[in-house]
Amino acid sequence: MEKRISVAPMMGQTDRHFRYMISLMAKDVRLYTPMIHAEAIVNSSNNFIKRENGYQKKVGIQIAGNDPNVVVRAATIIEQHNYNEINLNIGCPSERVQNCSVGVALMKQPKLVADIVKHLAKVTSLPISIKSRIGVDDYDDYEFLYDFIDQTSSAGCDHFIIHARKAILKGLNPKENRTIPPLDYQRVRQIKDDFSSLRVEVNGEIDSIEKIKSQLKIFDGVMIGRESYKNPFFLAEVQDHFFKNKTKLSKYDFMIKMIDYIEREAEGGASVHLITRHMTQLFKGTNGAKEWRNLIGGNSSHKKDLKSLINEILVFMDDREEILV
Ligand SMILES: Cc1cc2nc3c(=O)[nH]c(=O)nc-3n(C[C@H](O)[C@H](O)[C@H](O)COP(=O)(O)O)c2cc1C
Repeated sequence: MEKRISVAPMMGQTDRHFRYMISLMAKDVRLYTPMIHAEAIVNSSNNFIKRENGYQKKVGIQIAGNDPNVVVRAATIIEQHNYNEINLNIGCPSERVQNCSVGVALMKQPKLVADIVKHLAKVTSLPISIKSRIGVDDYDDYEFLYDFIDQTSSAGCDHFIIHARKAILKGLNPKENRTIPPLDYQRVRQIKDDFSSLRVEVNGEIDSIEKIKSQLKIFDGVMIGRESYKNPFFLAEVQDHFFKNKTKLSKYDFMIKMIDYIEREAEGGASVHLITRHMTQLFKGTNGAKEWRNLIGGNSSHKKDLKSLINEILVFMDDREEILV
């Protein structure tokens, strides 16, 4: 099975602008939209998900839903656009999501998830995957996870991305649910051992080349979340380390491409701030980091007209050649 490396869906972060930026530096790293409610896809015009990934590299779309009919209707719309996978969110612990009984709450209803998969598989030719946790609340033993994977894979899902910690629905907020329940990669490994024909990708605090290397010896893929956002150039390193196609762009060329993109998008009516906000962390750890953050971070890019902003970026690039190799 071909090994995969992907960037995790992250609401408020992995939007189309961020994904464009990552696709410039890491062509073979797979990307996903943040979670989108199936209802929102069905109830808004087609333009919404066309715009979400129009004219960019194909990506997976992550959807949330608990009604097989709505999910099926969403899938028929998704099929017409630029997506290469439908990923079901069975891992999100946020209260808003719980109130709609989707996300990780659905792990407690494997029959319903299996039903959704069965209906989906009938109507879509796109690969279907599930992103889940290893458990939820008191449903946290291996038998529970085994049964969840067994039922949903029998229904037609052969690709699982598992965040290697359980979620606690009452008492922990989403951020705490990404740090407090302990990681248990071994639990995910047991799933790979017991379901060897399934594609099993592991997620949770994978933030170095060494960790990716060791997890890829066991799993079919790794999914990288927070580190991708905190340190986007890490993904260029990942590309160069794990794929044949090397990132040929220098950081300087990358910046020129981003400037072109900002100009193109601004012409089309996009808010420049929504692009530059993803670029704030680019030079973290270098001697230009502070200057760069002052130039582009917070509200500063809001306040400038486009021409002055781009001029300032170009001056920064000339002054700081040494960090743009
Ligand atoms: C800001 C933020 C938003 C997130 N939004 C989503 C989401 O929309 N869908 C999802 O499945 N997981 C979401 N997650 C969880 C990540 O996909 C990932 O599972 C989690 O961060 C663990 O991976 P990491 O330790 O590599 O960050 C989000 C995480 C963060 C930090």
